[in-house]
Amino acid sequence: MRLPRPLPLLLAALVASSATLAEAPPAKVATCQACHGAEGVSSAPDIPNLAGQKAVYLTRQLEAFKAGTRKNDLMAAIAAQLTPDDVKVLAAYWSSLPPAPAAAAAAPPHAATVSAMALPRDFPKGFVEYQREQDEAAKTLTLRYANRLAIDAARGGKPLPDGSVLLTVNYVAQIDDQGHWKPGAVKNYVGMESRAGWGDAIPPLLRNGNWNYGVWAPDGTPRLALQQPRCLACHQPKSADSYVFTLAALKGAAH
Ligand code: HEC
Ligand code: HEC
Repeated sequence: MRLPRPLPLLLAALVASSATLAEAPPAKVATCQACHGAEGVSSAPDIPNLAGQKAVYLTRQLEAFKAGTRKNDLMAAIAAQLTPDDVKVLAAYWSSLPPAPAAAAAAPPHAATVSAMALPRDFPKGFVEYQREQDEAAKTLTLRYANRLAIDAARGGKPLPDGSVLLTVNYVAQIDDQGHWKPGAVKNYVGMESRAGWGDAIPPLLRNGNWNYGVWAPDGTPRLALQQPRCLACHQPKSADSYVFTLAALKGAAH
């Protein structure tokens, strides 16, 4: 029996690819990069650099987030998903990078920062209000809306399917002589929408099913700018509730 011709080539390719694998950064690094920067140098004022930091220090911080002795909602959600082995590997990886590579500032935006969600064009058509909150101090009235698909799923006790849209609208409150609150001018729109495939670009530790997120100014200008990983991380622990904090209110409104 003769070996098929391309086999040596194939073997060479396999060897080459396993060599690359051995040197490749750990898979979970993609999640960290969404907030800490592609090379561990962050552009956000409240997110620390990881590149070049001492490995023992990084390990201790990750363990503290896991244990809850260091408190931060975003890092709590991420650290909860790391095994002791992940912590070791990630601390070693970030520690091995140069502290402030010149190229860091020019890195393209991380896929998790890119949202596919647009402000629903015909809003409030097709939406149902399911919750209303007053902020006495800020004189803000917050109305939460969901589309029919989300309402119907909540009514049936089912997970919210792709096609669900939730929109929170913050209004300046108009308060009449009797002290009744009415929505005045829009302050901003804050939304989440699930569509098939939208979760694919987001690293698994940050992924909330297929939800993407959005914030818009009153005139519809997007205001999310690189914030989406924060939305994802903070809503992540609500996975059993379709990543929705106000699911109980949504179910209640559906009845
Ligand atoms: C959603 C954004 C986000 C993601 C994703 C994220 N982090 Fe963080 N991380 C933060 C923020 C914000 C802080 C600052 C927390 C604080 O103020 O205490 C932080 C702090 C840290 C610290 C403490 C650093 C120091 O100097 O004290 C470590 C270590 C860390 N992150 C590691 C990681 C690793 C490893 C990953 C990936 C598995 C990751 N982070 C993913 C937002 C994020
Ligand atoms: C620090 C945690 C945290 C972050 C970060 C966060 N959220 Fe939320 N989100 C909440 C909580 C808690 C609620 C429940 C309502 C409330 O308490 O204000 C909520 C409610 C919502 C709702 C109504 C549906 C629901 O889940 O109840 C939408 C829509 C929403 N957030 C969008 C966003 C967007 C967009 C971002 C990013 C710009 C974001 N959230 C970032 C914690 C967070």
